[in-house]
Amino acid sequence: MNKKNLLFSALMAAGCAFSAMAVLPEAEINSRVNDLIGRMTLEEKIGQLNQLSGYGYAPEMVGQIRNGAVGSILNEVDPEVVNKLQREAVENTRLGIPLIFARDVIHGFKTIFPIPLGQAATWNPAVVEEGARIAADEASSVGIRWTFSPMVDISRDARWGRIAESFGEDPVLSETLGVAMVKGYQSDDLSQPNTMAACAKHFAGYGAAESGKDYNTTWIPEELLRDVYLRPFKALADAGSATFMCSFNDINGVPSSGNRKLLQNILRDEWGYDGLMVSDWGSIQQMIPHGYSENLRHAAAQAVDAGVDIDMESYAYTGHLRDLVEKGEVSEARVDSLVRNVLNLKYRLGLFENPYVDVATSKRFYAPASLDAARRAVEESAILLKNTGTLPINNSKVKKIAVIGPMADAQHDQAGTWVFDLEKEHSVTPLTALQQMYGKENVIYAPGLDYTRDLSTKGFSDAVKAAKKADVVLYFAGEEAVLSGEAHCRADLSLPGAQSRLLQELKATGKPVVMVVQAGRQLAIMPESELADAVVYCFHGGTMTGPALANLLSGNVNFSGRCPVSFPRMSGQEPLYYNRKNTGRPAEGITLINDIELEAGQTSTGCTSYYLDAGDGALFPFGYGLSYTDFTYSDPVLSASEIGPDGTVTVKCTVTNSGDRAGSEVAQLYIRDHVASLIRPVRELRGFEKITLQPGESKTVEFVLTPAELAFHVNGSQTVVEPGEFSVWVAPNANEGTPARLTVVKPQTVASR
Ligand code: NOJ
Repeated sequence: MNKKNLLFSALMAAGCAFSAMAVLPEAEINSRVNDLIGRMTLEEKIGQLNQLSGYGYAPEMVGQIRNGAVGSILNEVDPEVVNKLQREAVENTRLGIPLIFARDVIHGFKTIFPIPLGQAATWNPAVVEEGARIAADEASSVGIRWTFSPMVDISRDARWGRIAESFGEDPVLSETLGVAMVKGYQSDDLSQPNTMAACAKHFAGYGAAESGKDYNTTWIPEELLRDVYLRPFKALADAGSATFMCSFNDINGVPSSGNRKLLQNILRDEWGYDGLMVSDWGSIQQMIPHGYSENLRHAAAQAVDAGVDIDMESYAYTGHLRDLVEKGEVSEARVDSLVRNVLNLKYRLGLFENPYVDVATSKRFYAPASLDAARRAVEESAILLKNTGTLPINNSKVKKIAVIGPMADAQHDQAGTWVFDLEKEHSVTPLTALQQMYGKENVIYAPGLDYTRDLSTKGFSDAVKAAKKADVVLYFAGEEAVLSGEAHCRADLSLPGAQSRLLQELKATGKPVVMVVQAGRQLAIMPESELADAVVYCFHGGTMTGPALANLLSGNVNFSGRCPVSFPRMSGQEPLYYNRKNTGRPAEGITLINDIELEAGQTSTGCTSYYLDAGDGALFPFGYGLSYTDFTYSDPVLSASEIGPDGTVTVKCTVTNSGDRAGSEVAQLYIRDHVASLIRPVRELRGFEKITLQPGESKTVEFVLTPAELAFHVNGSQTVVEPGEFSVWVAPNANEGTPARLTVVKPQTVASR
């Protein structure tokens, strides 16, 4: 059994110790739910559909629970309070229906893992699953049995603050990691007390917010919606994510919370999803300012009709559903169908049998194995973007290290966004870890700036002095946690404050400078990357950021993180994503702004698709990342050059570690459909595998392509594979690779993914 499996078994055993109960068969759950619904008053039913935010064991909350007016509570994390509130529901209400306690456990509860975008940079579903399992074990130990995660909104715009919570810009990477996260939270048996119900959010299109501004409108053609934005949600529905959350945005003019086409027709009728749909916070009420509902009563009717089972904090259902039913505007049968989903989840979670937290085993936080897993997650997540040989730190030459920058010792900020339960004293910073590794006397610390937005240069002279005394400068730059996440969007993606100026002064000392960026998104760091001798990018890494970075910088561990998003040269390139269309005039013969002659003719710069200042394409492309070793790829070998309607083609590629130390590489399978009735992107990821190779070792990766993976949507919802020429290749990133030809031989329609 490997280390990871041992940890899994230990965590599951901890769960099993509380309870010997088994999962109830589905038929048994259904019959109990129906029986219960048959005995409920309309008022009690509406109560189950109401979710409130916790505020302790307060009389008003207790009163609402005793009246059966609350079905679930979010944000209550004190296990004693959880038990007391639960006792009110179970022992002091007519039917004794337990509450569910929910929380945004997004990238760890107490042991904080990298933000989801950082987890995506691992390209390793096992790492993501393990992190989610640990998060579930920690959070469930205080009674949290429902997390609002994973977020699988495809995010093609770094300005959007919530890109931090996503798995990046690609549907295949997002679906693979999203499924792994669901598995980690829910394990194989949701009724075990150390699991949490997952929540696929935000359904749908939220990441396409216009101009990267949160809550903004989206307009997504149905074909693009299905090819890109819905794909991970479908995978999560198939993988059994117990719940879904609808999004704040309107999509093509209809807010998700009232969007029957999305919530009922696609999710329920087409995909057969039978889990639970919760609104986002106040999102039913927000259909009024959206301009979709006349008032809260109207909004309640629209949300019920669309299929929102739980109203989170809009008070729309408690305020108006009774009246809507009594006046015949909403049928009681419709209400029953919503209540059914709520009760079903409570049974599946085992809450009827085991409603209370075992206080004796609660607060299972910061287990050594969990901290170890968190450290390994950062080690696999950090990306080496540039290295002119400065890294790894050469221990025989380097005696003194200057540690500089506002993110070197930022216990709060290295944790990233969405860490309501952070205890920052547990965060181990790079400064602490480097002092432990190299000895305090060999590390000269001078932050230079107090925080990332700091504009004051008063600390510069100390920082420069420190740099001059050292053999290498480690400059920890980035953005604070609060600069990303919900409602924290930025129009300017450059390093905030005076960080760029400080880097220039450090570089002027002539010492080798390694810039380590910790951030919640891909920042526009072109000028700084040109200046620094090496660049490491670490999306906010959480509790164990310091030890992981120390291991990577020192060379104890090799880099294997890869970009889950395209890094822009300049903010104005956003939205920027690798799976773009070619256009009729693809970029060529780029003339940059400073090379244009005075009074040059309008057409002298060529008439192709690029920016005069940013040129074309990403600074660091999707999938990119360096290592301390080198990898070479063979040309891809296809099992057949043609594929028919029922065929499969195997794509093989041999990857060799041609360097002199062990390392991990992410082999990425891309396709391109050259001519289509709706033009296709220049490349699309269709699979990937992270492999570890010893020096000189080779491994053959193998991917199976089916027609479904060559398909796309036309006429809205129809899935087709059109006959003709495709390219297929395996590469270390989206900009490389040698394509092989694959011909699709017959016109065909295939079952949707
Ligand atoms: C609003 C956010 O959009 C959502 O992701 C979160 O789960 C809820 N608030 C609950 O906190």
